Amino acid sequence: MQRVTVKTAARPSSYKVIIGAGALSLLGEVAQGALTVHARRIALISNRKVFKLYGAQSAEALRTAGFDVAHWLMNDGERFKNLRTLKRALAFLMSARLERSDAVVALGGGVAGDLAGFAAAVYLRGIAFVQVPTTLLAQVDASVGGKVAVNADAGKNLIGAFHHPRAVVIDTDTIRTLPLRELTAGWCESVKQGAVGSKELFDMTYNFLRREAEDEKHARVESLERLIAAQVAFKASIVAGDEREDVTRTDSRSRRILNFGHTTAHALEAATRYRRFRHGEAVGYGMLVAGEISKRLGLLDRSGLELLSDAVARCGRLPRADDLSEDMILGAISLDKKSVGGHLKWVLLERIGRARVVDGREIDKKLLRASLRAAFERASKNK
Ligand SMILES: NC(=O)c1ccc[n+]([C@@H]2O[C@H](COP(=O)([O-])OP(=O)(O)OC[C@H]3O[C@@H](n4cnc5c(N)ncnc54)[C@H](O)[C@@H]3O)[C@@H](O)[C@H]2O)c1
Ligand SMILES: [Zn+2]
Repeated sequence: MQRVTVKTAARPSSYKVIIGAGALSLLGEVAQGALTVHARRIALISNRKVFKLYGAQSAEALRTAGFDVAHWLMNDGERFKNLRTLKRALAFLMSARLERSDAVVALGGGVAGDLAGFAAAVYLRGIAFVQVPTTLLAQVDASVGGKVAVNADAGKNLIGAFHHPRAVVIDTDTIRTLPLRELTAGWCESVKQGAVGSKELFDMTYNFLRREAEDEKHARVESLERLIAAQVAFKASIVAGDEREDVTRTDSRSRRILNFGHTTAHALEAATRYRRFRHGEAVGYGMLVAGEISKRLGLLDRSGLELLSDAVARCGRLPRADDLSEDMILGAISLDKKSVGGHLKWVLLERIGRARVVDGREIDKKLLRASLRAAFERASKNK
């Protein structure tokens, strides 16, 4: 098992992330260690699909540690991460008579984690919660960092809070049952974290993807554990330095750098009405576009771009994008909600492992269009 400590400005001032094959069996002990001695009830929030796979084991581990466990299953899918589901989740917490000292456990991907975490943030003005992420994306990204939210009609994650979990339990075995596209999406976000985090993290991720087919099962399980721990440690370090994502920060360690690849990704998702791409897949394209821009601005060298592109290709097949109109994508990019004071900020690369935030006004339309085209061509060659 690997352990990572995440430091926070909130109370308690840190929490633990436990990572390893079979970590689910430790859920009870971990919850016991992370919650107060008064915690008696646990409200487990999941969805039918994940609960069928891992619910019994999770509930059993919690019961063995002495907790009363009640569960509630939300509908599966991003479109259910909304206020209506939140209301139902809160009704469940009330009917389960959760008290201030009790806790919520979120079992599932980022959707369950964000929704259950937000419910825990607002129920009785905030009760403890534990994340048990079961998708690769949620393990390396969504479960750590304290952002919880639901979507509104006007956009994604518009209603939310900062509410840190008391502990995160990552059972690396759970990703074995993940559909291939979910894995691809998770790998894309992992490559992203490496690309902006450090060359070491990037290489570790890239080498894992390269070797995956060859290694023995035992070696693979171990290196997966270490890789996820390194990814979590990186995310934790960024979050600790910029917990609330200060909008004025543009340095290479600001939380904003985690948006590498996301300007184009959000545009692709919006332009296809969230129906074609898994978010991480769109980030795959987005990184290629940001890489092309970086190279054209004289920041990233050719070998850096090639390496990034190869890493994205190894994440898995991306849905096609070459049939989408450039004008439509460019239009959607200019509407991106992450802009500050009306100006778009692009996260680019100076080199693999180091990000640079650039004001959108410094990137002219022609360069952007050419980068978009080059990135899509690159992606279709990668297939
Ligand atoms: N809070 C944050 O900091 C943060 C960061 C990144 C993403 N997010 C959010 O996370 C969400 C995306 O999360 P996601 O990619 O995990 O999607 P998801 O939660 O929708 O999970 C993807 C699919 O995989 C299924 N699934 C989950 N675990 C499984 C398993 N072990 N085996 C088989 N199937 C399994 C789910 O039921 C779902 O159908 C988005 O809503 C996004 O906004 C939040
Ligand atoms: Zn993302």
